[in-house]
Amino acid sequence: MDRGPYLNLATPNSIVIKWRTTTNCDSKVFYGPIPSSLNNVVHDPLPVKDHEVVITGLQPYTKYYYAIASNNQTLTVPSFSMYFYTMPPYGSNGNYKFWVVGDAGTGSVNQTRVKNGFLKHTNHQHIDGWIWLGDNAYDGGFDSEYQSNVFQHNLYGDVMRRIVVWPAPGNHDYNHNLPFSPSPAYFNIFTLPTLGQAGGLPSGTEAYYSYNYGNIHFISLDSYDQGRGPGDPMAQWLQNDLAANTQPWVIAYWHHPPYTKGSHNSDNSNFLDGELVDMRQNILPILENHGVDLVLCGHSHCYERSKLIDGHYGYSNSLQPSMIKNPTGGNYPQNCPYQKHTIPNKAHKGAVYAVVGCSGKLSGTSSGWPHPVMHYATNTIFGSMLIEVNKNRLDAKFIDSTGAIVDRFTIVKNAGGKSTYSICPGQTLTLTPSWAESVNWFPAGVNQPSLVVSPPLPTFYYAYDNLGCIKDTFVVNFLPPAQCTTTALNDPEIKGRFYVYPTPIQSRQFFIEYLPEFEIKNLQITNILGKTLPFILRKETENKLMVEFPNGVSNGIYNVIILFSDGKKSSSKVIVQN
Ligand SMILES: [Fe+2]
Repeated sequence: MDRGPYLNLATPNSIVIKWRTTTNCDSKVFYGPIPSSLNNVVHDPLPVKDHEVVITGLQPYTKYYYAIASNNQTLTVPSFSMYFYTMPPYGSNGNYKFWVVGDAGTGSVNQTRVKNGFLKHTNHQHIDGWIWLGDNAYDGGFDSEYQSNVFQHNLYGDVMRRIVVWPAPGNHDYNHNLPFSPSPAYFNIFTLPTLGQAGGLPSGTEAYYSYNYGNIHFISLDSYDQGRGPGDPMAQWLQNDLAANTQPWVIAYWHHPPYTKGSHNSDNSNFLDGELVDMRQNILPILENHGVDLVLCGHSHCYERSKLIDGHYGYSNSLQPSMIKNPTGGNYPQNCPYQKHTIPNKAHKGAVYAVVGCSGKLSGTSSGWPHPVMHYATNTIFGSMLIEVNKNRLDAKFIDSTGAIVDRFTIVKNAGGKSTYSICPGQTLTLTPSWAESVNWFPAGVNQPSLVVSPPLPTFYYAYDNLGCIKDTFVVNFLPPAQCTTTALNDPEIKGRFYVYPTPIQSRQFFIEYLPEFEIKNLQITNILGKTLPFILRKETENKLMVEFPNGVSNGIYNVIILFSDGKKSSSKVIVQN
């Protein structure tokens, strides 16, 4: 075996496994729940050197061990380090981790050290996806250079066996479009979603694409070889893709940074650094209109990380104070996180722009370093980025070759606010805060993720994070005594508190309207077998909700079950007939 195996294009139910052999032979992948029991097999008898096997019919967010074979010969030994994960269902929350490298494929010892630093920092925990920001194999992105600077096991080959790579192309992956160059090896090496297979709108090209990982919408763009104008196909697709997106987090990445004063200068003219200017002027407005949270680039061989900014599409001397949504570093928990309130409108609430072009190379700086949008910048530290997304919290950390955190920031969405509940005296209620970690409760005086209360009188409760940056207020009132009789309490299901419309639905969306005096504590949708379905929920008005099923929901009858904050349950049916 010459190359691999490596992983591409995971979806909730499938994955692509690729490898290369010296001679033409068939392709076999064995897989199963434990290394000693790889009882499933996919076999392609066609003799090839570049093997590509698609495994389908898999369970979402499930770990599978695997081994590959050709000519009845095992090419990899089953082990606990040979595995892949499928994607979680679209829209689902989790504690997801992503690794970001840029300008990495030098084949140098620094590339290996950055990898080792990252693996040490994450303590070999599972990484959900691996983002490559372009210039993935120096100097020209030729297949032989990918072989020597990427696929070697001491470089990235060992990790590519278990982490799915989601790359973007850089100028070096195109060999600078030198005349008579072969077509870029990038497109043969990677299998990327052109048809929206992993969520997102079909792009029809591997040059740019999008995918959904749980509650995150990722977008990979080609800032070198595609038209970057507002009327070009890439911008048009991006506009439509973002308009169709329902995931709360949006992370976009490409090679040429809109803001940099590193080895490239985003204030340079179109002749010198035109890609940077084009992406800033034409692509950023589309992203910011649709609430982008984080933009990642490479190209400058340094690390630069902005404050929370919005609407800065000109040269650096045109930066206005109003474009800086939050001037701090957002480096929680030393300081308060960046907070974004995206309900009812997510546009122009600020994004962080990071250049991570130092995973294999370091270079000099340009005049004006650091760029004025930056909170932190260094051109002397090799490193990569860890992004963690847990529900409405995103943490990003710049990790150096020793595994230490050099810079970090946190974005928290729609945290803090007031909720009102009505219960009967003696009933208990679980209060859940609007963010995930380290919650201090007042007046209970405890630090714990949630609080069960049964107050003797109507009571206010407060939840604070450790720094007092985020505060939730919970108002617990008592229901009128007539609603708290034994009969009422024992009635498991109560009719007529809400209705759904339209039904049957011929799209994926429907609405719920409920009596305004009640609060919804929990909403569940099940199929007729009682299996819970994922869905997207948006509050339209005080007592109206919009519910959206995921793509591919089957026709049928579904139960909408609502638990109100007084402990009463009510249900209704909705029919999907597409
Ligand atoms: Fe580059």
